[in-house]
Amino acid sequence: MRPADQADVWWRNAIVYSLDVETFQDSNGDGIGDFRGLTSRIDHLARLGVTCLWLMPFYPTPNRDDGYDIADYYAVDPRLGTLGDFVEMMRTARSRGIRVIADLVVNHTSDQHPWFLESASSRDNPKRDWYVWRDEPPQDGPQGVIFPDQEDSLWRHDERTGAHYLHRFYRHQPDLNITNPEVRDEIARVMGFWMELGLSGFRVDAVPYLIETAGTHDGHLVEDPHAYLRALSSFMTRRKGDAIMLGEVNLPYEGLMPFFGDGGDELDLSFDFPGMQAMYLSLARQDAGPMRQALSARPSPPRDTRWATFVRNHDELTLDQLTASQRDEVFAAFGPEPEHQIFDRGLRRRLPSMLGGDQDRIRMVYSLLFSLPGTPVLYYGEEIGMVENLEVPGRWSVRTPMQWEPGAGGGFTTADQDGAERAMPARPYGPDHISVADQREDPQSLMTYIARLAALRRETPHFGWGSIEWLACDEPSVLAHHAVVDGDSVVAVHHLGDAPVEVTLPVAGLEPGTLLRDLLAEGPGMPEPVEVAHDRTITLTLGRYGACWLR
Ligand code: NOJ
Ligand code: CA
Repeated sequence: MRPADQADVWWRNAIVYSLDVETFQDSNGDGIGDFRGLTSRIDHLARLGVTCLWLMPFYPTPNRDDGYDIADYYAVDPRLGTLGDFVEMMRTARSRGIRVIADLVVNHTSDQHPWFLESASSRDNPKRDWYVWRDEPPQDGPQGVIFPDQEDSLWRHDERTGAHYLHRFYRHQPDLNITNPEVRDEIARVMGFWMELGLSGFRVDAVPYLIETAGTHDGHLVEDPHAYLRALSSFMTRRKGDAIMLGEVNLPYEGLMPFFGDGGDELDLSFDFPGMQAMYLSLARQDAGPMRQALSARPSPPRDTRWATFVRNHDELTLDQLTASQRDEVFAAFGPEPEHQIFDRGLRRRLPSMLGGDQDRIRMVYSLLFSLPGTPVLYYGEEIGMVENLEVPGRWSVRTPMQWEPGAGGGFTTADQDGAERAMPARPYGPDHISVADQREDPQSLMTYIARLAALRRETPHFGWGSIEWLACDEPSVLAHHAVVDGDSVVAVHHLGDAPVEVTLPVAGLEPGTLLRDLLAEGPGMPEPVEVAHDRTITLTLGRYGACWLR
């Protein structure tokens, strides 16, 4: 690995941070976060060590799915500011060395998008074929329905022309017909537009549904759907060589791999949904088994493509790849009440509350996130241990405003917070107890810890670039991996159990007598380095939920 590779293939060692402009920082006191507010907070991200910002949809929208229902792809939602504000934000981020990617939501539009209004207006409208229309809806059953609590079909009857349109998600989100060349050109135009304004790529929403062509052209596949993803990727890199696509593909590994393409010519990064779900099962059982199994079975993405690892995101914590009984175990451990659950398949909570506020355990999870092979993606508020507000309905429970400082508006806004739709959580989780201001200068805070992890991660390219070996271990609660880059080693050890243990690990690749120092330990009382024994093993003691990165 040459230092220049780290710059060229920047996503392999990136620290990604996702946020919704609407809930990050309000600058004008109207209670809605905006681009000027975000710009004023870029230094927080720089301080944390973020290198790539992922913006959730910020385009004009009727906002019935938090902006994932777009009514204009070429503008900024006026509630969030102007294109001018957007460009100022981009410029500020760039000056701090932070790239920006944004959600590309083109599986569907809002039903208020002018394209759909035209398409629905008559059968011979020029935009008719931009969406997927059928006189008689095929029998789809509730199977492919994504939000079964609210929709019972993929097809919706539309009175204007007496036909049905396809909608994978909510009925107000009609699917675009990507077999139509005009639609494809338009999607490319959208990508080109935002790349000209500085974006380094896209988080691509709902990728499997975007490229599926069932239901179009009477169900005949016009071509390999992956050819379209390849075409998008090559268009993107033709316009901007180092731009990336980070895809949302929630499938088991074997279903997921084709989305990287042959030799990596489709997605550059794909979220590791199976690994994330296995992690929660492991946490619930205090047994590293499910994770070890998932991660050792996890295929290596081709060439420069990577897994994107994450602990939480803006959606429910989806557990749909676990079996029903495994899911029940996770529910029992982390979300036993009906109000914690959503769609019978996920949890509308953030990590710290699921772990009962246990600081050792929370830190161990983030140490895992930053040391697993893959690119870590944080969700805003994770750095300070923000917690959900269950009083706020549905998925909004985890989409409450960023808590910057103590006080009613939490430094997010000066607007009156009485009756706010997405109220911040009440004590002891509100901004009076959990905030950036409180944690910034505190060497013991979670925020300081996460910033340290981010810095160490960037100084330790082993995890992003190295070859990885999962180490055998007699202690079921311990997950250990050995990452080697250019002959240099780091051994990461994580203990998922709540009682101290002593473990012996085989480190075949290391010479006896080698001294390993824990990168996570610092200051006075630092543990002695660990010495590789004659039989090429190391023995160490881990405290409850202990973690170390031995180099
Ligand atoms: C995935 C997004 O993460 C989710 O929030 C949204 O509702 C659906 N895609 C539909 O766009
Ligand atoms: Ca505002």
